[in-house]
Amino acid sequence: MNEQMNEQITQSIDDKIKVLISEKEIEKKIVRLAKEINENYKESLPVIVCVLKGAFIFCSNLVKKLKLPLLEIEFISVSSYGNEFKSSGEVNLTVPLSGAITNKDVLLVEDIVDTGVTAKFLIEYLQKQNPKSIKLASLLCKPQKLQHKINIDYLAFNIEDKFVIGYGLDYLGKYRTLPYIGYIEE
Ligand code: IMP
Repeated sequence: MNEQMNEQITQSIDDKIKVLISEKEIEKKIVRLAKEINENYKESLPVIVCVLKGAFIFCSNLVKKLKLPLLEIEFISVSSYGNEFKSSGEVNLTVPLSGAITNKDVLLVEDIVDTGVTAKFLIEYLQKQNPKSIKLASLLCKPQKLQHKINIDYLAFNIEDKFVIGYGLDYLGKYRTLPYIGYIEE
């Protein structure tokens, strides 16, 4: 899809964006999740693994609320969506983990668990590096779409099967900076 077509599509959907979850609701939920994480990691420091690009806003707002100043943060990047609303079902690791996680408690931070293909892929990838534990935090989950049994230890919101944007999530690489989670009204 070329740049001109992208522009036409994004312009035509700009005025159809509706708020699904407000910034306030998200912030409140993040405070609650952070409390749980602070409590559960009192005895050990987790390595946070933020999945780029979608989780960057959720992850940064979450870690700011953690009272664990010595924790480490790593980034990893995968691509599973092309230019369409639907998952390709294929996950490519575009940026591997640079730091070591062996014998460490890992907290993987995702934007959304949709089919669960990406989360399954990432958990298996991290497991190969023999961490002490792996837990998963996700801003969103679409339970109706799940194809794999994924245990989300820290989940902010379950949502219905809608394509959502904002708070890090994109459509065609755009709309990531919306401060809320929105959807495009058909
Ligand atoms: P899964 O592998 O099907 O679980 O999809 C996971 C990835 O697909 C997420 O990390 C997102 O990058 C992307 N994704 C899934 N659903 C949506 C959506 O509604 N909006 C934007 N991106 C999505």
